Amino acid sequence: FTCDLLRNFSIIAHIDHGKSTLADRLLELTGTIQKKQSGKNEQVLDKLKVERERGITVKAQTASMIYTFHGKEHMLNLIDTPGHVDFAWEVSRSLAACQGALLLVDASQGVQAQSISVFHNARERGLTIIPILNKIDLPAAQPERIAAQMQSTFGINPSDIIHISAKTGKGVESILEAIVDRIPPPVGSTGAPLKAFLFDSLYDRYRGVISLVNIQEGILRRGDKITSCHTRKKYEVTELGIMHPEEISTDSLRPGQVGYIACNMKESSEAHIGDTLHRVGQPVEPMPGFQPAKAMVFAGVFPVDSSDFPKLEESIKRLTLTDRSVTVQRESSSALGQGCRLGFLGTLHMDVFRQRLEDEYDANIIITAPTVPYKVIYRDREVFVSNPTEFPETSDTASRVKEIQEPVVKASIIVPEEYFGDMMELCFSHRAEDLDHRYLDAGINTSSRIILTCILPLSEIVTDFFDQLKSRSSGFASFDYEDAGYRHSDLAKMSFLLNSKPVDALAIIVHRSSQDTIARQWVKKLHKVIPRQMFEVPIQAAIGKKILARETLSALRADVTAGLYGGHYERKMKHLENQKEGKRKMKKMGSVDLPQEAFFDILSNK
Ligand code: GTP
Repeated sequence: FTCDLLRNFSIIAHIDHGKSTLADRLLELTGTIQKKQSGKNEQVLDKLKVERERGITVKAQTASMIYTFHGKEHMLNLIDTPGHVDFAWEVSRSLAACQGALLLVDASQGVQAQSISVFHNARERGLTIIPILNKIDLPAAQPERIAAQMQSTFGINPSDIIHISAKTGKGVESILEAIVDRIPPPVGSTGAPLKAFLFDSLYDRYRGVISLVNIQEGILRRGDKITSCHTRKKYEVTELGIMHPEEISTDSLRPGQVGYIACNMKESSEAHIGDTLHRVGQPVEPMPGFQPAKAMVFAGVFPVDSSDFPKLEESIKRLTLTDRSVTVQRESSSALGQGCRLGFLGTLHMDVFRQRLEDEYDANIIITAPTVPYKVIYRDREVFVSNPTEFPETSDTASRVKEIQEPVVKASIIVPEEYFGDMMELCFSHRAEDLDHRYLDAGINTSSRIILTCILPLSEIVTDFFDQLKSRSSGFASFDYEDAGYRHSDLAKMSFLLNSKPVDALAIIVHRSSQDTIARQWVKKLHKVIPRQMFEVPIQAAIGKKILARETLSALRADVTAGLYGGHYERKMKHLENQKEGKRKMKKMGSVDLPQEAFFDILSNK
């Protein structure tokens, strides 16, 4: 395939607007995959089990298909992109390998927060955008109204919009035509020195790292000796080919093509997303590099049974081979023993990783409360702190610490007008600043929607913000955010003490404005989940030396045989045995025995 017969494109959309379903239809129409008889959506591109279960695309996948247009065979390369806000980074790097994007909007829901962010992302990269209205089969679909909305929001001419149902397949054929017709072919000369753009990598147990590349210029052949602009390491290409969507090995990859290469790369850390590869001895100008993924949510992961730590660490290592955006550091806690501190792109990412650990490695784990990276500015240096145990004490704050800053994001919320008040309230209760809003569908008579923007502390949205947003808007609000740097903040470390001893794994970082409420809530909660002990246990929340809340757990004489009548000796013994068994699973916190489950309860549903 020469360049003019190639097209590279992505599908971009708000979550659930039907990307994967459309991808499947396109692959079927081009005969790339067999049509399923059952009529059920197979979603070939969602390979991981978690993705299937949750119906979200986590890892970008790619597939090449052959389509005959005006008697000529074209190769269309689809680069699938993930849909959740946590993965914005993956969307953006996938787009760098494309010349066009299909902007998919659900005809019943209309333009949502991420429709806007992905649109701008694609436009900034100069991609040709093909607007598509999906789900026109739904009774609630309002294609005319949503088309007008797309016109007012994006400046898209309604006559350019393709109306389809990815579910029934209606209209999908015309997308294939539009891809060939409207998206420009990639440019690149066969004669130039090799220049390949690395946009994704996978890990294969047998062959090591498989990199996905987009050839910018020159021809890449098996046996070629290549080197990375970033690491300067040298490799020999042992295998290469296209994704169809399974790997099909070929002899070469030509300009504009998208494909995979295996070159004995052992560690996935060697495959830098955004890196440029060239032939040894023929240096080229690297493509503008990408920022590495930035972990924004950190949490400690500990095995329930401390002796499982080596196994847990091994499992984490193996999982991070396939998900390079997770950062790992060892951590030890006096309460929970040896564990790892992991950094994630967002809370969904954290959830997905946890589930993969549990699914694929049978790991029985406890995850601590998520923390964002705070910036602590001392007189002479700045440090990022993402673990409450390393946060400066209040006595320090007065003397050595000049300022504490927290990461903030620019949030956009799109919501029907009637929920506007609730959304304002939600934002204010999460310390919103610079609130602004405007009407999204100006000039349209039906109930209007509003786009609300504000600056929110990242820490305020990593816990329950998204759930509250959905429940307070009856599911109608959509949400997106982007990094907005750091802002000064009045934060402090809150410790929890059992029997006057602080429990390190429970410490959290709070904003002073909500310290009293949080202290009371947590102390109540601890009081509820911690079983009574043989002695009285004060439960306290403190910032520095100051106690902010207290509950007292009254003493209990744990006579497990108390309810049994005399004579039942064996039964009595069994109970005592059970009690002994129970003891083993206890975590000792200072002088207080806390069952693992209690810990789990405290940390899992804050
Ligand atoms: P993410 O990958 O998580 O971003 O989602 P997605 O955009 O890939 O959406 P997906 O293809 O998983 O579709 C979301 C839901 O919408 C699924 O339940 C689909 O069956 C449904 N769906 C997709 N297209 C259509 C359509 O044309 N009509 C109807 N009625 N339902 C559709």
